[in-house]
Amino acid sequence: MRQNKIHILLIIGMCISFGFMYHYFVKALQYDVTIDHYSTDVKEGQHFVLIVEEKDNPYFTELLKGALDAARPHNITVEYIGPKQTNIEEHIKLIEKAIAAKVDGILTQGLSDEEFAPIIDKAISKGIPLITVDTDVKNSKRLAYVGTNNYQAGYKVGQAVLSETKGPIQVGIVSGSLVANQHKSRVKGFLDAVEHAVRVEVVAIETSNLSKIQGAEKTFQMLRTNPEINVLYGTSALDGVGISDAIEKINPAEPIIVYAFDDLEETIDYMNKGVIHSILRQQPYDMGYKGVNLLIDILDGKEVEPLNYTDTEFIRKDDSLTNITLKKN
Ligand code: BGC
Repeated sequence: MRQNKIHILLIIGMCISFGFMYHYFVKALQYDVTIDHYSTDVKEGQHFVLIVEEKDNPYFTELLKGALDAARPHNITVEYIGPKQTNIEEHIKLIEKAIAAKVDGILTQGLSDEEFAPIIDKAISKGIPLITVDTDVKNSKRLAYVGTNNYQAGYKVGQAVLSETKGPIQVGIVSGSLVANQHKSRVKGFLDAVEHAVRVEVVAIETSNLSKIQGAEKTFQMLRTNPEINVLYGTSALDGVGISDAIEKINPAEPIIVYAFDDLEETIDYMNKGVIHSILRQQPYDMGYKGVNLLIDILDGKEVEPLNYTDTEFIRKDDSLTNITLKKN
């Protein structure tokens, strides 16, 4: 009888420990899935999705940080997705999937008017609040935009070139893209700013496809074909590094003044080494933070401003470097 009781107790004990093992095994499996698809561990509450053009680009990791910080106190899950390399078709498919999944809110870049407006309008017609972040699609029904005024940012760089240089200037532009809205605006703003300055001529515009390597290659070719270039302007986060890699390789006899976007670590290193003259710093963290709060306000039934521009500012290694006199061609 006593032996029977011991057996029963042993069996119960084994069942309990097996139960625990099973529970933690299943949890461990789910943990992997969570890390892959969600960048915050909050699992209750609402589900937002943040779609960017390059998921691993450090510029966007900063934007994600802001989004997560804003979401955490509200128990909101932020799903962070995007292609490995910028790809409009893939980006649109991800928006499509988010709509099909009936998420509670979408934050996305709007890379081009023609391709993005229909899918953005679809989200709105299905009752899913969507706001554009970093790059806007003005002709869409998006509820708000949060990010840099990209035309003004390009204009600011143009004005800086005018006020910080003397003599004849030949400019080479390396643009992330010539079809994406933010880069088109940054190039247009720059061209408008220097339009009436006869001493400034834009001699080449090439695209890097947001890739450091392509940025370096394009700069290399550009400087070979146009050795008179004395100002280089990179419009996307990795262009400053690509341009600088090429300059280091070529080691030009005459100085080239480089204007870059975004304070990524490598870009700052090049600025500290004196290869980059000036960086126009955007505020990706603020974009993510404000973006999530705008979605929350919309879901709370509040009216939101349609245009929410975040700050930009120049940073330079040494502001005494301004007013540089360039070589005469
Ligand atoms: C832009 C983003 C772009 C990123 C690419 C940033 O300057 O604001 O729109 O995707 O560069 O590196």
